[in-house]
Amino acid sequence: MRATFCGARRVLSMANMTDLSVQLGPLSLRNPILSASGTYGHGLEMCHFTPPARIGGLVSKTVTPNPRHGNAAPRIAETEAGLLNSLGLENKGVEHYLAHTLPDMAGVDTVVFTNIGGESVDEFIAMARRLGERDEIDAFEVNLSCPNVQGGRLPFGTDPANAARVIEGIKAATTKPVFAKLSPNVSRIADMALAVEAAGADGITAVNTLLGMAVDWRTRKPGLATVQGGYSGPGVKPVALRCAWECARSVSIPVIGCGGISSAEDVLEFLVAGCTAVQLGTACFADPALPGRMVDELTRLLDDAGVARVRDLIGTVQDGTSRTCASNASDAKAQTDAEVVGRP
Ligand SMILES: Cc1cc2nc3c(=O)[nH]c(=O)nc-3n(C[C@H](O)[C@H](O)[C@H](O)COP(=O)(O)O)c2cc1C
Repeated sequence: MRATFCGARRVLSMANMTDLSVQLGPLSLRNPILSASGTYGHGLEMCHFTPPARIGGLVSKTVTPNPRHGNAAPRIAETEAGLLNSLGLENKGVEHYLAHTLPDMAGVDTVVFTNIGGESVDEFIAMARRLGERDEIDAFEVNLSCPNVQGGRLPFGTDPANAARVIEGIKAATTKPVFAKLSPNVSRIADMALAVEAAGADGITAVNTLLGMAVDWRTRKPGLATVQGGYSGPGVKPVALRCAWECARSVSIPVIGCGGISSAEDVLEFLVAGCTAVQLGTACFADPALPGRMVDELTRLLDDAGVARVRDLIGTVQDGTSRTCASNASDAKAQTDAEVVGRP
């Protein structure tokens, strides 16, 4: 009896005291946990493990104008502290997404991001136009790490001017919020953040995978057929955290942290560093029920620490610098009484 009573009291106190809602630019999220593109299918594949209504939002796999068959195998290699992949943006293309994936998202009770890719500025713009009328989509996430055919050797993800041209074009083509997903494979990510902010981005996702490589010394073969690939998982967390912090202190638009997050403690670290929300990627492969459990764990951690509203932690890192993402924190505070719903 005693155990039941204590358990009931704890549930009550958690439900009453801890507010996990955050304001991500124009989007109201019930909590700061999102899925990361390409690691959760298009979102609904995981609903048996984590109902979408439990988390703040779903991000689709990158959708491109035409179907992409992806790279040759092997295109996944496990490492000591994460994963290397070179899937090559495999997807069935925008027409298939419109006809077969989006209709299923209609009743989904969470914020839906569609992640879009293109090989030229015009392709990105065409994607935003083609998808922009669909009510199932709440916001776009723009994968700037796509191969760039138009610009030659400089990909969109590492050249601020190219990235800005993509975001500017997309913003002119759609009224939906646009989040620019940045690459960590640059020397100054703040320059990229400032460029996409100036181009009109509503927010930033920091970051995509790090360039990495694996070799089997016995066979002398690389772990991936493409030799290089994208590194993700726990090993990238410190780099991703530094990138997200650098973005958050450089711009006024909200930042979504991504990279190596696998616990509620990790989530709170990214929020304190300046992020308004986070995405979970590689960690969900081993544990697809993680996002839902993480919401409960977040509530418990905040309750234990006496923090009533998760948004009060955003950008509170005491890093000794003058810029501390005050705009994110004050935006979040202004939302105190706003109604928080799964969809805006
Ligand atoms: C297998 C795999 C596929 C991915 N596909 C995409 C993709 O289609 N588009 C994209 O923007 N990011 C993609 N990513 C990157 C993730 O969304 C995320 O940015 C990255 O994995 C870092 O987060 P994590 O360490 O939590 O996985 C992919 C990552 C993995 C591991």
